[in-house]
Amino acid sequence: MSIECPSVQFVCLGNICRSPAAQGVMESLIASNPRWQGVSVDSAGTAGYHIGRAADSRMIAAAKLRGYDLQSRAKQFERGFFRSRTLILAMDRENYRDIMLLATGSAPNVRLFSDFLDESWPRDVPDPYYGENDGFEYVLDMLEAGCPKILEEIIGKKDSSRLA
Ligand code: 4NP
Repeated sequence: MSIECPSVQFVCLGNICRSPAAQGVMESLIASNPRWQGVSVDSAGTAGYHIGRAADSRMIAAAKLRGYDLQSRAKQFERGFFRSRTLILAMDRENYRDIMLLATGSAPNVRLFSDFLDESWPRDVPDPYYGENDGFEYVLDMLEAGCPKILEEIIGKKDSSRLA
């Protein structure tokens, strides 16, 4: 797990709605701020239903209206991520439980996305797949609120490790 080249792994169920959008929001933030450059981002699903597919067209369209270009192809979470990623962020508590079922020991780098949000937001990033279009907007609202905080924490740790 590298702090010098930090990596963030977003994880949802299908890897076609929430985690690809999280990846798109994060990549856009990283590109916008020199302080955040060098952080790498990836997304995956706990399930393999949609492996190889582009993000859901409704998520792509909602993200595009906010300036995010989602280019992901769905893949499934791999055990190797426990070691290779600085931070693994589950979109909801079910995703978190499913990730932890794959861990052989403690996995302190696995967190809930909403750990980076204040209490005005729900604990889970709601799954928009079976809902209406406003669900996709709400997911993006949550991601835009949390992603800068995640980057601040990662970069803060990197800076303090340099000072140590
Ligand atoms: P995601 O949404 O976990 O945010 O990608 C879902 C996508 C597909 C399904 C469930 C959730 N599905 O059941 O196919």
